[in-house]
Amino acid sequence: MNIEQINTQPFSDQRPGTSGLRKKVRQFQQPHYLENFVQSIFDTQTDLRSGTLVVGGDGRYYNRTAIQIILRMAAANGVARVLVGQGGILSTPATSCIIRKYSTQGGIILSASHNPGGPSEDFGIKFNVSNGGPAPENVTETMYQRTLEIDSYRIVEAYDVDLDQPGTQTLGEMQVEIIDPVKDYANLMRALFDFDAIHQLFNSGLFRMRFDAMHAVNGPYATQILEKMLGAEPGTVINGIPKEDFGGGHPDPNLVHAHDLVEMTRGHDPVDFAAASDGDGDRNMILGNNFFVTPSDSLAILAANAHMLPGYHSGIPGVARSMPTSQAADRVADALGIDCFETPTGWKFFGNLLDAGKIAICGEESFGTGSDHVREKDGLWAVLFWLNLLAIKQQSVSTIVHDHWRRFGRNYYTRHDYEGVDKEAAETLMKELRFRLDDLKGQQFGDYKVDYADDFSYTDPVDGSVSENQGIRIGFTDGSRIVLRLSGTGTVGATLRVYLEAYEPDPEKHDLETATILAPLAALTEELAEIRSRTGREKPDVIT
Ligand code: G1P
Ligand code: ZN
Repeated sequence: MNIEQINTQPFSDQRPGTSGLRKKVRQFQQPHYLENFVQSIFDTQTDLRSGTLVVGGDGRYYNRTAIQIILRMAAANGVARVLVGQGGILSTPATSCIIRKYSTQGGIILSASHNPGGPSEDFGIKFNVSNGGPAPENVTETMYQRTLEIDSYRIVEAYDVDLDQPGTQTLGEMQVEIIDPVKDYANLMRALFDFDAIHQLFNSGLFRMRFDAMHAVNGPYATQILEKMLGAEPGTVINGIPKEDFGGGHPDPNLVHAHDLVEMTRGHDPVDFAAASDGDGDRNMILGNNFFVTPSDSLAILAANAHMLPGYHSGIPGVARSMPTSQAADRVADALGIDCFETPTGWKFFGNLLDAGKIAICGEESFGTGSDHVREKDGLWAVLFWLNLLAIKQQSVSTIVHDHWRRFGRNYYTRHDYEGVDKEAAETLMKELRFRLDDLKGQQFGDYKVDYADDFSYTDPVDGSVSENQGIRIGFTDGSRIVLRLSGTGTVGATLRVYLEAYEPDPEKHDLETATILAPLAALTEELAEIRSRTGREKPDVIT
Protein backbone atom coordinates (compact mmCIF):
# COMPACT_ATOMS: atom_id res chain seq x y z
CA MET A 1 0.00 0.00 0.00
CA ASN A 2 1.22 3.43 -0.92
CA ILE A 3 2.32 5.61 2.01
CA GLU A 4 2.28 9.27 1.14
CA GLN A 5 4.35 11.91 2.88
CA ILE A 6 2.42 15.16 2.58
CA ASN A 7 4.10 18.51 3.15
CA THR A 8 2.34 20.82 5.57
CA GLN A 9 2.79 23.95 7.63
CA PRO A 10 2.12 24.39 11.32
CA PHE A 11 -1.07 25.99 12.69
CA SER A 12 -0.50 28.10 15.74
CA ASP A 13 -3.79 27.33 17.48
CA GLN A 14 -3.60 23.62 18.26
CA ARG A 15 -3.00 23.76 21.99
CA PRO A 16 -5.40 21.24 23.57
CA GLY A 17 -7.63 22.64 26.33
CA THR A 18 -8.99 20.84 29.42
CA SER A 19 -10.53 18.19 27.14
CA GLY A 20 -8.57 18.06 23.94
CA LEU A 21 -8.54 20.24 20.87
CA ARG A 22 -11.97 21.75 20.31
CA LYS A 23 -12.80 24.05 17.38
CA LYS A 24 -15.49 24.85 14.87
CA VAL A 25 -16.01 22.10 12.26
CA ARG A 26 -14.96 24.56 9.56
CA GLN A 27 -11.60 24.99 11.20
CA PHE A 28 -11.09 21.24 11.31
CA GLN A 29 -12.02 21.04 7.62
CA GLN A 30 -9.14 23.30 6.57
CA PRO A 31 -6.60 21.32 4.55
CA HIS A 32 -4.06 19.57 6.83
CA TYR A 33 -5.65 20.86 10.08
CA LEU A 34 -6.83 17.55 11.53
CA GLU A 35 -3.92 15.73 9.89
CA ASN A 36 -1.32 17.95 11.58
CA PHE A 37 -2.79 17.29 15.00
CA VAL A 38 -3.10 13.56 14.43
CA GLN A 39 0.47 13.33 13.14
CA SER A 40 1.60 15.16 16.27
CA ILE A 41 -0.04 12.43 18.32
CA PHE A 42 1.77 9.70 16.38
CA ASP A 43 5.08 11.60 16.46
CA THR A 44 5.02 12.00 20.24
CA GLN A 45 3.20 8.83 21.37
CA THR A 46 5.73 6.39 20.00
CA ASP A 47 4.23 3.38 21.84
CA LEU A 48 1.47 3.45 19.25
CA ARG A 49 3.93 2.19 16.65
CA SER A 50 3.28 -1.57 16.48
CA GLY A 51 0.67 -1.02 19.18
CA THR A 52 -3.11 -0.95 19.46
CA LEU A 53 -5.22 2.20 19.30
CA VAL A 54 -8.93 2.65 20.10
CA VAL A 55 -10.88 5.09 17.90
CA GLY A 56 -14.45 6.33 18.16
CA GLY A 57 -16.57 9.38 18.69
CA ASP A 58 -19.89 10.77 19.74
CA GLY A 59 -21.41 10.59 16.25
CA ARG A 60 -21.44 14.32 15.60
CA TYR A 61 -20.97 15.86 12.16
CA TYR A 62 -17.48 15.08 10.74
CA ASN A 63 -17.08 12.03 13.03
CA ARG A 64 -16.98 9.50 10.19
CA THR A 65 -14.77 11.63 7.94
CA ALA A 66 -12.29 12.20 10.75
CA ILE A 67 -12.20 8.49 11.61
CA GLN A 68 -11.35 7.58 8.00
CA ILE A 69 -8.47 10.09 8.02
CA ILE A 70 -7.19 8.82 11.37
CA LEU A 71 -7.31 5.19 10.21
CA ARG A 72 -5.34 5.97 7.05
CA MET A 73 -2.79 7.92 9.07
CA ALA A 74 -2.56 5.19 11.72
CA ALA A 75 -1.78 2.66 8.98
CA ALA A 76 0.89 4.96 7.57
CA ASN A 77 2.42 5.45 11.00
CA GLY A 78 2.87 1.77 11.76
CA VAL A 79 0.01 1.17 14.20
CA ALA A 80 -0.60 -2.61 14.28
CA ARG A 81 -4.27 -2.72 15.24
CA VAL A 82 -7.15 -0.30 15.72
CA LEU A 83 -10.37 -1.03 17.59
CA VAL A 84 -13.18 1.12 16.21
CA GLY A 85 -16.69 1.36 17.62
CA GLN A 86 -19.28 0.21 15.08
CA GLY A 87 -20.68 3.17 13.16
CA GLY A 88 -17.81 5.23 14.54
CA ILE A 89 -19.61 5.33 17.89
CA LEU A 90 -17.83 5.13 21.24
CA SER A 91 -18.74 7.09 24.33
CA THR A 92 -15.89 8.65 26.26
CA PRO A 93 -16.28 6.32 29.27
CA ALA A 94 -16.63 3.26 27.01
CA THR A 95 -13.40 4.24 25.23
CA SER A 96 -11.69 4.43 28.60
CA CYS A 97 -13.11 1.02 29.50
CA ILE A 98 -11.90 -0.54 26.22
CA ILE A 99 -8.39 0.96 26.47
CA ARG A 100 -8.07 -0.58 29.94
CA LYS A 101 -9.69 -3.91 29.19
CA TYR A 102 -7.54 -4.64 26.12
CA SER A 103 -4.42 -2.90 27.49
CA THR A 104 -4.10 -0.73 24.39
CA GLN A 105 -1.52 2.02 24.03
CA GLY A 106 -4.21 4.69 23.96
CA GLY A 107 -7.30 5.96 22.23
CA ILE A 108 -8.52 8.85 20.13
CA ILE A 109 -11.98 10.23 20.95
CA LEU A 110 -13.76 12.53 18.53
CA SER A 111 -16.09 14.77 20.42
CA ALA A 112 -16.75 18.31 21.51
CA SER A 113 -18.60 16.89 24.51
CA HIS A 114 -21.70 18.94 25.29
CA ASN A 115 -21.17 21.56 22.56
CA PRO A 116 -23.67 21.54 19.67
CA GLY A 117 -22.81 19.61 16.51
CA GLY A 118 -23.35 20.21 12.79
CA PRO A 119 -21.49 21.81 9.88
CA SER A 120 -21.33 25.21 11.54
CA GLU A 121 -20.91 23.94 15.10
CA ASP A 122 -18.13 22.30 17.09
CA PHE A 123 -15.84 19.32 16.66
CA GLY A 124 -13.06 18.02 18.83
CA ILE A 125 -10.34 15.43 19.19
CA LYS A 126 -8.67 14.17 22.34
CA PHE A 127 -6.08 11.55 23.09
CA ASN A 128 -6.40 9.19 26.03
CA VAL A 129 -3.35 7.41 27.36
CA SER A 130 -2.89 3.74 28.28
CA ASN A 131 -4.50 4.02 31.73
CA GLY A 132 -7.69 5.02 29.88
CA GLY A 133 -7.61 8.62 31.06
CA PRO A 134 -7.19 11.95 29.28
CA ALA A 135 -3.61 12.76 28.34
CA PRO A 136 -1.94 14.57 31.25
CA GLU A 137 -0.64 18.09 30.76
CA ASN A 138 2.95 17.12 29.96
CA VAL A 139 1.67 14.85 27.17
CA THR A 140 -0.67 17.44 25.63
CA GLU A 141 2.12 20.02 25.90
CA THR A 142 4.56 17.83 23.92
CA MET A 143 1.85 17.26 21.31
CA TYR A 144 1.21 20.98 21.10
CA GLN A 145 4.94 21.72 20.74
CA ARG A 146 5.04 19.19 17.92
CA THR A 147 2.15 20.93 16.11
CA LEU A 148 4.23 24.11 16.09
CA GLU A 149 7.10 22.57 14.14
CA ILE A 150 5.42 19.91 12.01
CA ASP A 151 6.30 19.99 8.30
CA SER A 152 4.81 16.77 6.96
CA TYR A 153 2.42 13.94 7.80
CA ARG A 154 2.02 10.35 6.68
CA ILE A 155 -1.14 8.85 5.23
CA VAL A 156 -1.94 5.83 3.07
CA GLU A 157 -4.00 5.95 -0.10
CA ALA A 158 -6.93 3.63 0.43
CA TYR A 159 -10.66 3.16 0.13
CA ASP A 160 -12.80 3.96 3.15
CA VAL A 161 -13.07 1.32 5.84
CA ASP A 162 -16.65 0.05 6.29
CA LEU A 163 -17.36 1.36 9.78
CA ASP A 164 -20.70 -0.43 10.00
CA GLN A 165 -19.46 -3.94 9.28
CA PRO A 166 -18.48 -5.81 12.48
CA GLY A 167 -15.31 -7.88 12.31
CA THR A 168 -11.77 -7.46 11.10
CA GLN A 169 -10.66 -5.62 7.97
CA THR A 170 -7.16 -4.66 6.91
CA LEU A 171 -5.74 -1.34 5.87
CA GLY A 172 -2.26 -2.02 4.51
CA GLU A 173 -0.46 -3.89 7.26
CA MET A 174 -2.87 -2.66 9.91
CA GLN A 175 -5.84 -4.58 11.30
CA VAL A 176 -9.05 -2.66 11.81
CA GLU A 177 -11.52 -4.33 14.14
CA ILE A 178 -15.03 -2.94 14.13
CA ILE A 179 -16.30 -3.74 17.63
CA ASP A 180 -19.63 -3.57 19.45
CA PRO A 181 -19.41 -0.18 21.19
CA VAL A 182 -21.66 -1.23 24.08
CA LYS A 183 -20.74 -4.79 25.08
CA ASP A 184 -17.57 -4.35 27.14
CA TYR A 185 -18.98 -1.30 28.88
CA ALA A 186 -22.25 -3.05 29.72
CA ASN A 187 -20.36 -5.99 31.20
CA LEU A 188 -18.34 -3.63 33.38
CA MET A 189 -21.55 -2.00 34.66
CA ARG A 190 -22.98 -5.43 35.47
CA ALA A 191 -19.92 -6.15 37.61
CA LEU A 192 -20.32 -2.93 39.62
CA PHE A 193 -24.04 -2.82 40.30
CA ASP A 194 -26.77 -5.15 41.50
CA PHE A 195 -28.61 -5.63 38.20
CA ASP A 196 -31.11 -8.05 39.79
CA ALA A 197 -32.19 -5.47 42.34
CA ILE A 198 -32.60 -2.81 39.65
CA HIS A 199 -34.50 -5.28 37.46
CA GLN A 200 -36.91 -5.91 40.33
CA LEU A 201 -37.38 -2.19 40.83
CA PHE A 202 -38.45 -1.82 37.20
CA ASN A 203 -40.58 -4.99 37.41
CA SER A 204 -42.46 -3.76 40.47
CA GLY A 205 -44.59 -1.57 38.20
CA LEU A 206 -44.34 1.13 40.89
CA PHE A 207 -41.36 2.88 39.43
CA ARG A 208 -41.06 4.87 36.21
CA MET A 209 -37.98 6.40 34.71
CA ARG A 210 -37.01 8.43 31.65
CA PHE A 211 -33.48 8.70 30.30
CA ASP A 212 -32.81 11.49 27.81
CA ALA A 213 -29.91 10.53 25.54
CA MET A 214 -30.25 13.92 23.81
CA HIS A 215 -29.68 12.30 20.37
CA ALA A 216 -26.11 11.79 21.46
CA VAL A 217 -23.79 8.85 21.97
CA ASN A 218 -25.42 7.26 25.03
CA GLY A 219 -28.61 6.31 23.15
CA PRO A 220 -27.41 2.82 22.20
CA TYR A 221 -25.79 2.32 25.62
CA ALA A 222 -28.87 3.32 27.58
CA THR A 223 -31.26 1.36 25.38
CA GLN A 224 -29.20 -1.82 25.72
CA ILE A 225 -28.56 -1.53 29.46
CA LEU A 226 -31.76 0.05 30.79
CA GLU A 227 -34.39 -1.42 28.48
CA LYS A 228 -32.83 -4.71 27.33
CA MET A 229 -30.72 -5.83 30.30
CA LEU A 230 -32.60 -4.22 33.20
CA GLY A 231 -36.13 -4.55 31.86
CA ALA A 232 -37.18 -0.91 31.93
CA GLU A 233 -40.30 -0.40 29.81
CA PRO A 234 -39.74 0.43 26.12
CA GLY A 235 -39.74 4.19 25.73
CA THR A 236 -37.77 4.69 28.94
CA VAL A 237 -34.93 6.01 26.77
CA ILE A 238 -35.94 9.09 24.83
CA ASN A 239 -34.01 10.77 21.98
CA GLY A 240 -32.07 7.51 21.80
CA ILE A 241 -30.80 7.68 18.21
CA PRO A 242 -27.46 9.51 17.85
CA LYS A 243 -27.68 12.30 15.26
CA GLU A 244 -24.96 14.35 13.61
CA ASP A 245 -26.50 17.57 14.89
CA PHE A 246 -28.01 16.10 18.08
CA GLY A 247 -31.42 16.85 16.60
CA GLY A 248 -30.55 20.54 16.54
CA GLY A 249 -30.23 20.58 20.32
CA HIS A 250 -27.46 21.36 22.73
CA PRO A 251 -26.44 17.96 24.19
CA ASP A 252 -25.75 19.28 27.65
CA PRO A 253 -27.68 17.65 30.49
CA ASN A 254 -28.74 20.61 32.58
CA LEU A 255 -32.00 22.25 33.56
CA VAL A 256 -31.93 24.54 30.52
CA HIS A 257 -30.96 22.17 27.73
CA ALA A 258 -32.79 19.10 29.01
CA HIS A 259 -35.93 21.11 29.63
CA ASP A 260 -38.35 18.54 28.13
CA LEU A 261 -37.03 15.89 30.48
CA VAL A 262 -37.38 18.21 33.44
CA GLU A 263 -41.05 18.70 32.49
CA MET A 264 -41.60 14.93 32.72
CA THR A 265 -40.70 15.07 36.41
CA ARG A 266 -43.36 17.70 37.04
CA GLY A 267 -47.10 18.14 36.52
CA HIS A 268 -49.84 15.62 37.23
CA ASP A 269 -48.13 12.39 36.12
CA PRO A 270 -44.47 12.83 36.96
CA VAL A 271 -41.92 10.03 36.62
CA ASP A 272 -40.06 8.88 39.74
CA PHE A 273 -36.59 9.22 38.29
CA ALA A 274 -35.13 10.97 35.26
CA ALA A 275 -31.62 11.37 33.98
CA ALA A 276 -29.72 12.65 30.98
CA SER A 277 -26.21 12.55 29.62
CA ASP A 278 -24.23 14.71 27.21
CA GLY A 279 -22.77 14.46 23.68
CA ASP A 280 -20.03 11.96 24.50
CA GLY A 281 -21.79 10.31 27.45
CA ASP A 282 -19.56 11.36 30.31
CA ARG A 283 -21.81 13.93 32.01
CA ASN A 284 -25.05 13.23 33.85
CA MET A 285 -28.02 14.99 35.35
CA ILE A 286 -30.12 13.34 38.07
CA LEU A 287 -33.76 14.26 38.73
CA GLY A 288 -36.44 12.89 41.01
CA ASN A 289 -40.15 13.54 41.08
CA ASN A 290 -40.18 17.35 41.06
CA PHE A 291 -36.60 17.37 42.33
CA PHE A 292 -33.19 18.31 40.95
CA VAL A 293 -30.06 16.83 42.50
CA THR A 294 -27.12 19.21 42.10
CA PRO A 295 -24.03 17.43 40.78
CA SER A 296 -22.12 18.46 43.91
CA ASP A 297 -24.76 16.84 46.12
CA SER A 298 -24.87 13.81 43.87
CA LEU A 299 -21.13 13.31 44.34
CA ALA A 300 -21.46 13.58 48.12
CA ILE A 301 -24.39 11.14 48.18
CA LEU A 302 -22.58 8.58 46.02
CA ALA A 303 -19.54 8.80 48.30
CA ALA A 304 -21.65 8.42 51.45
CA ASN A 305 -23.48 5.33 50.11
CA ALA A 306 -20.85 3.60 47.99
CA HIS A 307 -20.29 0.79 50.49
CA MET A 308 -23.87 -0.42 49.89
CA LEU A 309 -23.16 -1.31 46.25
CA PRO A 310 -21.38 -4.46 45.00
CA GLY A 311 -18.52 -2.63 43.23
CA TYR A 312 -17.61 -0.64 46.34
CA HIS A 313 -18.71 -2.93 49.16
CA SER A 314 -15.42 -2.74 51.06
CA GLY A 315 -15.66 1.05 51.28
CA ILE A 316 -13.73 3.74 49.46
CA PRO A 317 -10.25 5.02 50.33
CA GLY A 318 -11.03 8.66 49.53
CA VAL A 319 -12.93 11.11 47.35
CA ALA A 320 -11.89 14.02 45.18
CA ARG A 321 -13.71 17.02 43.81
CA SER A 322 -12.67 19.78 41.46
CA MET A 323 -12.01 23.06 43.22
CA PRO A 324 -15.26 24.84 42.19
CA THR A 325 -17.40 21.84 43.18
CA SER A 326 -19.25 22.41 46.45
CA GLN A 327 -17.71 21.23 49.69
CA ALA A 328 -20.53 18.75 50.37
CA ALA A 329 -18.19 15.85 49.60
CA ASP A 330 -15.64 17.17 52.12
CA ARG A 331 -18.23 16.77 54.87
CA VAL A 332 -18.86 13.16 53.91
CA ALA A 333 -15.14 12.42 53.83
CA ASP A 334 -14.78 14.00 57.26
CA ALA A 335 -17.54 11.86 58.69
CA LEU A 336 -16.21 8.67 57.08
CA GLY A 337 -12.64 9.46 58.14
CA ILE A 338 -11.35 9.27 54.57
CA ASP A 339 -9.28 11.71 52.49
CA CYS A 340 -10.84 14.40 50.35
CA PHE A 341 -8.74 15.99 47.59
CA GLU A 342 -9.45 19.35 45.97
CA THR A 343 -8.14 19.34 42.40
CA PRO A 344 -8.15 21.86 39.53
CA THR A 345 -11.02 21.76 37.05
CA GLY A 346 -10.75 18.95 34.50
CA TRP A 347 -10.99 15.19 34.82
CA LYS A 348 -7.33 14.59 34.12
CA PHE A 349 -6.39 15.71 37.62
CA PHE A 350 -8.19 12.71 39.12
CA GLY A 351 -6.12 10.21 37.12
CA ASN A 352 -3.08 10.00 39.38
CA LEU A 353 -5.23 9.81 42.53
CA LEU A 354 -7.27 6.96 41.03
CA ASP A 355 -4.20 5.12 39.73
CA ALA A 356 -2.52 5.41 43.15
CA GLY A 357 -5.64 4.06 44.89
CA LYS A 358 -6.01 7.24 46.96
CA ILE A 359 -9.61 7.76 45.86
CA ALA A 360 -12.39 5.63 44.37
CA ILE A 361 -15.07 8.27 43.71
CA CYS A 362 -14.65 11.72 42.24
CA GLY A 363 -16.64 14.44 40.57
CA GLU A 364 -17.14 17.95 39.31
CA GLU A 365 -19.96 20.44 39.68
CA SER A 366 -20.26 20.44 35.88
CA PHE A 367 -22.42 17.30 35.89
CA GLY A 368 -19.49 14.89 36.02
CA THR A 369 -19.13 11.97 38.40
CA GLY A 370 -17.13 8.81 38.18
CA SER A 371 -15.04 6.22 39.94
CA ASP A 372 -11.99 4.01 39.63
CA HIS A 373 -13.79 1.68 37.17
CA VAL A 374 -12.53 3.81 34.25
CA ARG A 375 -10.44 7.00 33.99
CA GLU A 376 -13.15 9.32 32.69
CA LYS A 377 -16.30 10.69 34.19
CA ASP A 378 -19.19 8.42 33.35
CA GLY A 379 -22.77 9.55 32.81
CA LEU A 380 -24.54 6.23 32.63
CA TRP A 381 -22.50 4.86 35.54
CA ALA A 382 -23.86 7.67 37.74
CA VAL A 383 -27.41 6.89 36.61
CA LEU A 384 -26.98 3.19 37.38
CA PHE A 385 -25.47 4.07 40.76
CA TRP A 386 -28.59 6.08 41.58
CA LEU A 387 -30.86 3.31 40.31
CA ASN A 388 -29.07 0.81 42.51
CA LEU A 389 -29.43 3.16 45.48
CA LEU A 390 -33.15 3.66 44.78
CA ALA A 391 -33.58 -0.12 44.57
CA ILE A 392 -31.86 -0.63 47.93
CA LYS A 393 -33.44 2.24 49.83
CA GLN A 394 -36.92 2.04 48.31
CA GLN A 395 -37.23 5.75 48.89
CA SER A 396 -37.75 8.70 46.58
CA VAL A 397 -34.83 10.73 45.25
CA SER A 398 -35.99 13.68 47.33
CA THR A 399 -36.10 11.64 50.55
CA ILE A 400 -32.60 10.29 49.96
CA VAL A 401 -31.24 13.80 49.42
CA HIS A 402 -33.07 15.30 52.41
CA ASP A 403 -31.80 12.48 54.65
CA HIS A 404 -28.31 13.25 53.41
CA TRP A 405 -28.66 16.95 54.24
CA ARG A 406 -30.02 16.12 57.68
CA ARG A 407 -26.93 14.09 58.38
CA PHE A 408 -24.27 16.30 56.80
CA GLY A 409 -25.83 19.75 56.41
CA ARG A 410 -26.72 21.34 53.07
CA ASN A 411 -24.32 23.18 50.81
CA TYR A 412 -26.53 25.55 48.81
CA TYR A 413 -24.82 25.96 45.48
CA THR A 414 -25.14 27.69 42.12
CA ARG A 415 -23.03 28.46 39.07
CA HIS A 416 -23.39 31.56 36.90
CA ASP A 417 -21.93 31.51 33.39
CA TYR A 418 -21.21 34.58 31.31
CA GLU A 419 -20.62 33.16 27.84
CA GLY A 420 -18.77 34.61 24.86
CA VAL A 421 -17.68 37.75 26.67
CA ASP A 422 -14.81 39.87 25.43
CA LYS A 423 -11.62 37.97 26.13
CA GLU A 424 -9.55 40.94 27.17
CA ALA A 425 -12.27 42.27 29.47
CA ALA A 426 -12.59 38.88 31.16
CA GLU A 427 -8.84 38.53 31.59
CA THR A 428 -8.54 42.03 33.02
CA LEU A 429 -11.34 41.32 35.47
CA MET A 430 -9.51 38.25 36.74
CA LYS A 431 -6.15 39.99 36.83
CA GLU A 432 -7.36 42.95 38.85
CA LEU A 433 -9.21 40.78 41.32
CA ARG A 434 -6.11 38.65 41.69
CA PHE A 435 -4.13 41.77 42.65
CA ARG A 436 -6.54 42.50 45.47
CA LEU A 437 -6.67 39.04 47.03
CA ASP A 438 -4.11 39.69 49.75
CA ASP A 439 -6.04 42.78 50.89
CA LEU A 440 -9.30 40.85 51.17
CA LYS A 441 -8.11 38.49 53.88
CA GLY A 442 -9.83 39.15 57.22
CA GLN A 443 -12.14 41.80 55.74
CA GLN A 444 -15.78 41.85 56.81
CA PHE A 445 -18.54 42.30 54.18
CA GLY A 446 -21.94 42.38 55.88
CA ASP A 447 -22.35 38.91 57.45
CA TYR A 448 -19.33 37.54 55.64
CA LYS A 449 -15.79 37.59 56.94
CA VAL A 450 -13.08 36.56 54.48
CA ASP A 451 -11.17 33.54 55.78
CA TYR A 452 -8.90 33.07 52.76
CA ALA A 453 -8.56 34.48 49.26
CA ASP A 454 -6.19 32.99 46.72
CA ASP A 455 -5.59 31.91 43.16
CA PHE A 456 -5.86 28.15 43.43
CA SER A 457 -2.67 26.23 42.92
CA TYR A 458 -2.45 22.44 43.06
CA THR A 459 0.47 20.18 43.78
CA ASP A 460 -0.26 16.65 42.63
CA PRO A 461 0.31 14.41 45.67
CA VAL A 462 1.46 11.56 43.44
CA ASP A 463 3.92 13.08 40.98
CA GLY A 464 4.54 16.47 42.59
CA SER A 465 3.60 18.44 39.46
CA VAL A 466 2.26 21.92 40.12
CA SER A 467 -0.69 23.60 38.32
CA GLU A 468 -1.07 27.30 39.01
CA ASN A 469 -3.69 29.98 38.28
CA GLN A 470 -6.59 27.53 38.51
CA GLY A 471 -9.17 30.07 39.64
CA ILE A 472 -9.87 32.58 42.37
CA ARG A 473 -11.25 31.26 45.67
CA ILE A 474 -12.65 33.56 48.30
CA GLY A 475 -13.64 31.57 51.37
CA PHE A 476 -15.58 32.93 54.33
CA THR A 477 -15.45 31.90 57.97
CA ASP A 478 -18.97 30.36 57.89
CA GLY A 479 -18.01 27.93 55.12
CA SER A 480 -19.45 30.04 52.28
CA ARG A 481 -17.38 30.52 49.17
CA ILE A 482 -17.11 32.54 45.99
CA VAL A 483 -15.08 31.11 43.11
CA LEU A 484 -14.32 32.76 39.77
CA ARG A 485 -12.52 31.24 36.82
CA LEU A 486 -12.33 31.42 33.06
CA SER A 487 -13.48 28.42 31.09
CA GLY A 488 -10.89 26.31 29.31
CA THR A 489 -13.37 24.73 26.89
CA GLY A 490 -15.23 27.63 25.26
CA THR A 491 -14.68 28.23 21.54
CA VAL A 492 -15.85 31.86 21.25
CA GLY A 493 -14.37 34.74 23.28
CA ALA A 494 -14.13 33.97 26.99
CA THR A 495 -16.56 32.34 29.38
CA LEU A 496 -16.52 33.60 32.94
CA ARG A 497 -17.80 31.17 35.55
CA VAL A 498 -18.86 32.29 39.00
CA TYR A 499 -19.56 29.62 41.62
CA LEU A 500 -21.43 30.48 44.83
CA GLU A 501 -21.84 28.29 47.87
CA ALA A 502 -23.31 28.64 51.38
CA TYR A 503 -23.41 26.03 54.13
CA GLU A 504 -26.57 25.44 56.18
CA PRO A 505 -26.48 22.88 59.00
CA ASP A 506 -30.05 23.46 60.23
CA PRO A 507 -32.58 20.97 58.71
CA GLU A 508 -35.34 23.53 59.28
CA LYS A 509 -33.64 25.63 56.60
CA HIS A 510 -33.02 22.95 53.99
CA ASP A 511 -35.98 23.78 51.76
CA LEU A 512 -35.31 27.39 50.96
CA GLU A 513 -34.85 28.93 47.53
CA THR A 514 -31.22 28.57 46.40
CA ALA A 515 -31.26 31.93 44.60
CA THR A 516 -32.49 33.69 47.75
CA ILE A 517 -29.91 32.06 49.99
CA LEU A 518 -27.12 32.93 47.60
CA ALA A 519 -28.28 36.45 46.65
CA PRO A 520 -26.03 38.22 49.18
CA LEU A 521 -22.99 36.32 47.87
CA ALA A 522 -23.96 37.19 44.28
CA ALA A 523 -24.16 40.85 45.26
CA LEU A 524 -20.80 40.64 47.00
CA THR A 525 -19.26 39.04 43.89
CA GLU A 526 -20.52 41.96 41.81
CA GLU A 527 -19.06 44.40 44.32
CA LEU A 528 -15.66 42.70 44.23
CA ALA A 529 -15.38 41.79 40.54
CA GLU A 530 -17.55 44.44 38.83
CA ILE A 531 -18.79 41.92 36.29
CA ARG A 532 -21.54 44.16 34.93
CA SER A 533 -19.43 47.14 34.08
CA ARG A 534 -16.44 45.13 32.89
CA THR A 535 -18.30 42.69 30.63
CA GLY A 536 -21.35 44.79 29.78
CA ARG A 537 -23.56 41.90 30.88
CA GLU A 538 -26.55 42.60 33.09
CA LYS A 539 -26.97 38.96 34.10
CA PRO A 540 -25.49 35.50 33.52
CA ASP A 541 -26.40 33.60 30.32
CA VAL A 542 -26.83 30.32 32.15
CA ILE A 543 -27.55 29.66 35.81
CA THR A 544 -27.23 26.10 37.07
C1 G1P B 1 -15.90 22.46 31.73
C2 G1P B 1 -16.26 22.11 33.15
C3 G1P B 1 -15.22 21.18 33.72
C4 G1P B 1 -15.09 19.95 32.83
C5 G1P B 1 -14.83 20.37 31.41
C6 G1P B 1 -14.86 19.18 30.47
O1 G1P B 1 -14.67 23.12 31.69
O2 G1P B 1 -16.37 23.26 33.96
O3 G1P B 1 -15.59 20.81 35.02
O4 G1P B 1 -14.06 19.13 33.27
O5 G1P B 1 -15.83 21.29 30.97
O6 G1P B 1 -16.12 18.56 30.45
P1 G1P B 1 -14.52 24.70 31.65
O7 G1P B 1 -15.27 25.17 30.43
O8 G1P B 1 -15.15 25.23 32.89
O9 G1P B 1 -13.04 24.93 31.58
ZN1 ZN C 1 -18.74 15.27 27.81
